Amino acid sequence: MDQKPLRRIGILTSGGDAPGMNAAIRAAVRNCQQHKITPIGIRRGFSGLLHSDMEEMDARSVNGIMLRGGTVLNTARCAEFHDHAGILQAVRNYRYAGLDGIIAIGGDGTFRGLHELQKEGVRVMGIPATIDNDIGCSHYTIGFDTAANTAIEAVDKLADTMQSHERVSVVEIMGRGAGHLALYVGVAVGATSIIIPEREFDFERDIIEQIRMGRQRGKHHHLIIVAEGVGGCQAIADHIHEETGLEARVSILGYIQRGGNPTARDRVMASRMGHFAVEQLVAGSHDQIICYRDSRIVPVPIVEAMGMTKDLDMYMYKVAYDISI
Ligand code: F6P
Repeated sequence: MDQKPLRRIGILTSGGDAPGMNAAIRAAVRNCQQHKITPIGIRRGFSGLLHSDMEEMDARSVNGIMLRGGTVLNTARCAEFHDHAGILQAVRNYRYAGLDGIIAIGGDGTFRGLHELQKEGVRVMGIPATIDNDIGCSHYTIGFDTAANTAIEAVDKLADTMQSHERVSVVEIMGRGAGHLALYVGVAVGATSIIIPEREFDFERDIIEQIRMGRQRGKHHHLIIVAEGVGGCQAIADHIHEETGLEARVSILGYIQRGGNPTARDRVMASRMGHFAVEQLVAGSHDQIICYRDSRIVPVPIVEAMGMTKDLDMYMYKVAYDISI
């Protein structure tokens, strides 16, 4: 802890956007103002720090943004930040702008960037936001709930048309290398099979056998959810057709899952995390990731947080499997 008074705090969003990022920005900006700290919006993630693209914000500049998806500060994946010279330039700009800390909202790439800044003496706070929910230190990441609901709505619509034609739908769900989103969506839409990177899959056992059993029980539509980290949806669909004679159609939901108005859960979680990040800095704490663990918002030191992993809920996989009949 150190008690140096805070006058200006930089706020940025980095990496893939996630619904709820705006609610986190709004909460951080407004809590800064409560503490008489000037919030500085940094544009396009770390790129804005490297190129001194920053502007003062105030309570009114975040009016009406909570309900909007995306991020009003824009975001980017900044290649120059992988280079030490880039980090040093960012630190110079940070000092020149008179910043006393940085709050960055994003995923693990964002936290790696923060860690580099922290090593150069910058006071940092991270807020986990990614639709993938693949941040080890936090049981929840901002954007997951909205993305899940968007995907569920889309798959429900697909189910209408696929049912009419008695087809098999093979749907790819985002998630990078993790299956959290695919598994959650799969349970919520009543998938016949859920294929995720965390569990090796056997085509015959996990797909064909499931479809055959479903048909014997009178099912006319089969929904195969495939996580992005597994991919190969067209090959899976072709194979299903060869093995069963059923028509199989592929839908890749893609970026649609990253947009849309955040759900209540994402707005509330983001508001709590954004507020808490400022509270922590004001209390003299820094170099933490604001995490959601065991139903509480808690700080976890960034170095520790980066080494943490999160297992997929395999019991949820069993639930999905048992009730897919
Ligand atoms: O991390 C969020 C995510 O949408 C992943 O699900 C996906 O793999 C990736 O970002 C896509 O990233 P980009 O915006 O760089 O194409």
